[in-house]
Amino acid sequence: MTDVSSKGPEPSDERKVLTNRQGHPVYDNQNQRTVGARGPATLENYQFLEKISHFDRERVPERVVHARGVTAYGYFESYGAWGEEPIARHTRAKLFQERGKRTDVAVRFSTVIGGRDSAETTRDPRGFAVKFYTEEGNWDLVGNNLGVFFIRDAIKFPDVIHALKPDPVSHEQKPARIFDFMSQTPESMHMLVNLFSPRGIPADYRHMQGFGVNTYKWVNEQGETKLVKYHWMPKQGVRSMTEADAAAIQANELGHATKDLYEAIRRGDHPEWELLVQMMDDHEHPELHFDPLDDTKTWPEQEFPPRPVGRMVLDRTVDNYFAENEQIAFGTGVLVDGLDFSDDKMLVGRTFSYSDTQRYRVGANYLQLPVNAAKGAAVRTNQRDGQMAIGVDDSGANPEVNYEPSITGGLREAEYRTTDDQGPEIHGRVTRKRIPRTNDYQQAGQRYLLMEQWERDDLVHNMVTLLSQCDRPVQERMVWHFLLVENELGLRVGEGLGIPADAVRRLPPLASQTLTEEDERRLARLG
Ligand code: HEM
Repeated sequence: MTDVSSKGPEPSDERKVLTNRQGHPVYDNQNQRTVGARGPATLENYQFLEKISHFDRERVPERVVHARGVTAYGYFESYGAWGEEPIARHTRAKLFQERGKRTDVAVRFSTVIGGRDSAETTRDPRGFAVKFYTEEGNWDLVGNNLGVFFIRDAIKFPDVIHALKPDPVSHEQKPARIFDFMSQTPESMHMLVNLFSPRGIPADYRHMQGFGVNTYKWVNEQGETKLVKYHWMPKQGVRSMTEADAAAIQANELGHATKDLYEAIRRGDHPEWELLVQMMDDHEHPELHFDPLDDTKTWPEQEFPPRPVGRMVLDRTVDNYFAENEQIAFGTGVLVDGLDFSDDKMLVGRTFSYSDTQRYRVGANYLQLPVNAAKGAAVRTNQRDGQMAIGVDDSGANPEVNYEPSITGGLREAEYRTTDDQGPEIHGRVTRKRIPRTNDYQQAGQRYLLMEQWERDDLVHNMVTLLSQCDRPVQERMVWHFLLVENELGLRVGEGLGIPADAVRRLPPLASQTLTEEDERRLARLG
């Protein structure tokens, strides 16, 4: 803004003079213009009306999920290869090609359910969203800290979020509503076993893993594709909190994790994560007991070892929370050449949802904002106008040509670097069906068996505490699911609720599910 001298401050005062947005100096910022010292005020009070009406519009809608978050900047450094094998063999994405190549990143960590000023101590998944400002344009990897999700089809997302959010009448978050939904959603068991174990309250953002969760693809120069899953491992280690630790922090502090991240970066203790990639051939994998496109499943690490591909360091905080944290916009559709979507039914839904909500939440030109604009690559579109358009893209030699094709100038299409044909051919009838290999309980059970005794105790305690606040049919159905996850878990939660296995083990399966032979055996073992 221009520095305008005024008669207000003393000549010796070096501070810059306050103006309004039109560049007019503000002579009096304490008193409105009135008729006489005691009022009334006048409607041509331009300075006052501009000030107050801008203030009235200071907030944009908060994110419908992940409203509370914190953003920091840093860089990603590629390893170029794992062992002797160049990463280029599997992806042509430029950011991965050379050892030591650095790409700027912005990362936003978040909680999911609470509002913009809610506590960061809640039992809630954490968001882990990374924007890579690559030389080929931006790539967003929008993940969470638990590696799986509650549902596997995007059509159920508004329902799972409504159940988890506060009740629309009293605005309380209610276990009765959450488990009413979850008890009818068997695919949520793997997520629930994670979320209600000690992993469900990360100590802060620096000591937390990240996962892409959904299945993506890598594409190489020959157009060959692999299915991939992404993992972020913190060099700082992984730490969680008990309910008691969380309550003690929350009594004094709602934003402990934001504060922790900022303070660490400011004192030069820059947090670091390693990026690892699991990979499998791009087909249905009938030999597996789960579908590789199902985001309620993890891929066994023995069969699909996570391979390190680079590291990320965060070394800078934002200058302005609103401009860089509230207005930053991530999306699963934001991919660069060499990285692609899979047919994961959550991923396609997410890909529509993010830019849709951002056009509403931030505005049609949200991608023109500095934090969202591509930094490493040139942006030249024929998009024009719209609310808050702050610039016109370079359209080449003839600025009149904002369309394509044209023989008089304007922009041209890029050449494919290699090929656009990629991946296996897909055949099928148009239909509405759930995937065949749902196997809702096996991995949840394996996760339970991997827990130490105190973690199992914590999970059982948390479940009993919350389910005690639910209706009896919901309790019974949840105990039934837990018997199928692992007999011991069901028996212990049942005991805590006063529901013996006998009372529930003959419940019919839900209409929306198919039990595996292993599930049937697990019920039969109960006698
Ligand atoms: C944020 C939709 C599943 C991670 C959001 C937002 C929407 C959304 C609308 C707000 C975005 C904004 O206002 O900028 C969906 C839908 C899903 C889904 C429709 C399922 C169909 C997931 C899953 C994950 C995830 C499975 C984790 C892997 C995130 C993160 C953010 C977010 C990290 C916050 C991004 C930020 O920090 O700005 N999601 N989501 N979402 N979602 Fe999802």
